[in-house]
Amino acid sequence: MARKKIALIGGGQIGGTLAHLAGLKELGDVVIFDIAEGLPQGKALDLAQSSTVEGYDAAMTGANDYADIKDADVVIVTAGVPRKPGMSRDDLLGINLKVMKSVGEGIRDNAPNAFVICITNPLDVMVWALQQFSGLPANKVVGMAGVLDSARFKLFLAEEMNVSVEDVNAFVLGGHGDTMVPLPRYSTVAGIPVPDLVKMGWIEQDKLDQIIQRTRDGGAEIVGLLKTGSAYYAPATAAIAMAESYLKDKRRLMPCAVELNGEYGVSGMYVGVPVLIGENGVEKIVEIELNDDEKAGFDHSVAAVQGLVDAVKAIDPSLA
Ligand code: APR
Repeated sequence: MARKKIALIGGGQIGGTLAHLAGLKELGDVVIFDIAEGLPQGKALDLAQSSTVEGYDAAMTGANDYADIKDADVVIVTAGVPRKPGMSRDDLLGINLKVMKSVGEGIRDNAPNAFVICITNPLDVMVWALQQFSGLPANKVVGMAGVLDSARFKLFLAEEMNVSVEDVNAFVLGGHGDTMVPLPRYSTVAGIPVPDLVKMGWIEQDKLDQIIQRTRDGGAEIVGLLKTGSAYYAPATAAIAMAESYLKDKRRLMPCAVELNGEYGVSGMYVGVPVLIGENGVEKIVEIELNDDEKAGFDHSVAAVQGLVDAVKAIDPSLA
């Protein structure tokens, strides 16, 4: 059986980490595409040389021509400009919208059957625009945010309660921004819901509130520390988990930005909700019950994403 082909559009910090992880996990042969000449070729050569030490078989190629992503099984998009300190995700809107247009057309013309994972920020509106520009079916175009936001929530919970990260499960819904909705009721340690752990004295409510806020600010905290660029190890790891669920038909249930058509009372927009990812892409959108507070938080987040969708429609009227 031929190896799977994984195309990475954008060979920067996240792109390079994605290529490394895809190689280490032997998910398939990797093509790194970037507009910068030499960058993807250099990274690919470096990574290929690392493969002989680690002992993984995966071809690594750099490309500046979309023809090289031909018939990719998975495409992961990080092309664009990352946030600088003090810059909100939304500031990136105009610049990255143009990038999504060229990337969407490149995918449409060369890899129309791929499962596409978008990471470029501001995420929910960029993945929506990418789906529109590419014309691929919505179940094959998803945004990576919830897995990363949940990973951050999990880490902070594990550290606070001094338990293994292995036993913590956490859920974050909504848009990938300051309005995201971490859900303690659906977050557990070895199956014990976080609100019960508050009652049991494992974590104080105040601490939990701080952790929820730190999760919302998780990206900005790293941007502030790095000073140049934004997070890349955890975002890449999260996207690879999604790609793996598709490639291996693992049928994992993960929070991802997907197009909603009536679910959660939202239509024609991409927002983060739990979905099942299998060999057909997004196979199921899972509607969980939200209490009044959670629903209010979710609706607030949806309104923030809607604001960005309206803004990009004003920038590019071809996006209806
Ligand atoms: N086509 C292809 N590649 C592009 C294009 C384009 N039109 N425009 C820019 N790029 C490339 C850049 O040359 C660069 O190599 O995208 C890459 C982005 O890499 P980094 O600047 O290192 O950014 P990174 O940290 O990888 O983040 C990428 O993910 O989390 C988000 O906010 C983040 O939107 C940003 C994206």
